[in-house]
Amino acid sequence: MEQMPDNLENPIVKKYGQPQEIKAFSEYAKKGLEAYEKTAFTRMIKDDDIVLDLGCGAGREAKAVAALCSKVYALDLVHGMLKTAKGFVGENNVYFIRADATYLPVRNNTVDVVLMAKQLMNHITGSQQRTITMNEVYRVLKPAGRVYLTVHNNLFNIGIVHLLNGVYKIMHASPDPRKQGRAQGAGDSGTDLVNLLAGFFLLKPKSMFVNVYRRIASKVRKNYTGKEAGDWEISQVSDACSPFKSPYHNFTVKEISSLAIHAGFRIDEIRDIWELSDKRTLPQFLRKGAFTMVLILKKE
Ligand SMILES: C[S@@+](CC[C@H](N)C(=O)[O-])C[C@H]1O[C@@H](n2cnc3c(N)ncnc32)[C@H](O)[C@@H]1O
Repeated sequence: MEQMPDNLENPIVKKYGQPQEIKAFSEYAKKGLEAYEKTAFTRMIKDDDIVLDLGCGAGREAKAVAALCSKVYALDLVHGMLKTAKGFVGENNVYFIRADATYLPVRNNTVDVVLMAKQLMNHITGSQQRTITMNEVYRVLKPAGRVYLTVHNNLFNIGIVHLLNGVYKIMHASPDPRKQGRAQGAGDSGTDLVNLLAGFFLLKPKSMFVNVYRRIASKVRKNYTGKEAGDWEISQVSDACSPFKSPYHNFTVKEISSLAIHAGFRIDEIRDIWELSDKRTLPQFLRKGAFTMVLILKKE
C-alpha cells in the first residue's frame, strides 16, 4: 500500500477521502455483509480461491470474504479508506492495493473471483472507461473465473428519486446546510419544483411518448453538457454527506449486460433488489430506497 498523498484532482478521491465518508464506511463495515451478499459470496467463493475486491472501501466485504478463501486483494483509490480497512480487517490473508480499477496492477489469469460490491461500476466515468474496467476484470480472471457486481439502475436517478427528493425537500425545508445536503442526497438538480416536475415526467416510462422524449432529451443533454444518458452527480452515498459530489452513472439493464457480454463474460444471474438502508421515517425510508441490480458473471 503506497504512502503517496491522494490525488485530490480526482473527484472520487476528493469525496471518499473526506474523514466523514471514511468514518461512515467504517461504521458500515462493522455491520458486515447484507443478506443477499452473504448468500452470493458463500455460493461463489471456494476455500482455495484468490479474490480481488475492487473499491473495497473500509474493508467490509474483504473481512467477511477472508474467511471463505485463500487470499484477498483489496483495492481502492483512496489511501484513507485503505488505511482504515487495514486496521479493521486484521486478517493475514488480505493484501491492500492502492490503484484505479480502470488499470489493475494484477497479472493476467491469476484471480478466481472479482467483487465489485456496492456499485463500484457506477463510479466509473465515461463509457470508454467502463469498457476498459470490464476488460481489465476479464483479463485478470482465470478461465471460469466469476464476478459479483451490483449497480444502481436508471430508476435510482430518473423519476422516482427526483420526485421523492422534491417532496422530501419541501417537507424538510431547513436553513441548516448540512440537513439540506442530506435532503438533496439523491439528485441535487435544481429547485424543489424542478425535482417534482422531473419526477412526474421521468417516472419509469410506460408510454412511447415518454420513451421518445427521454431519448431526445438525453441526446440534447449530451450535445450541450457532454454527459451521457445516466450520468449525474451524487453527494450522499453514505450517511455522512461529505461536501463533495462525485460523478455517478446509472445503468439500464441492456447497458450493463452488453458491457459484460462484450468483455467476453457469460451472465449467470441478473436480478433486481429493492435495497433499503434505513427505515427511520417515511420520507427518509422512501428517499433511501434504490433499485439495485445484482449480476453474477463467468469468464467463458
Ligand atoms: C460506495 S463505496 C463502497 C465501499 C465498499 N465496497 C462497501 O461496500 O462497503 C465505493 C468505493 O469505491 C472506491 N472507488 C471508486 N472508484 C474507484 C476506482 N476507479 N478505483 C478504485 N476504487 C474506486 C471509492 O474510493 C469507495 O471506497
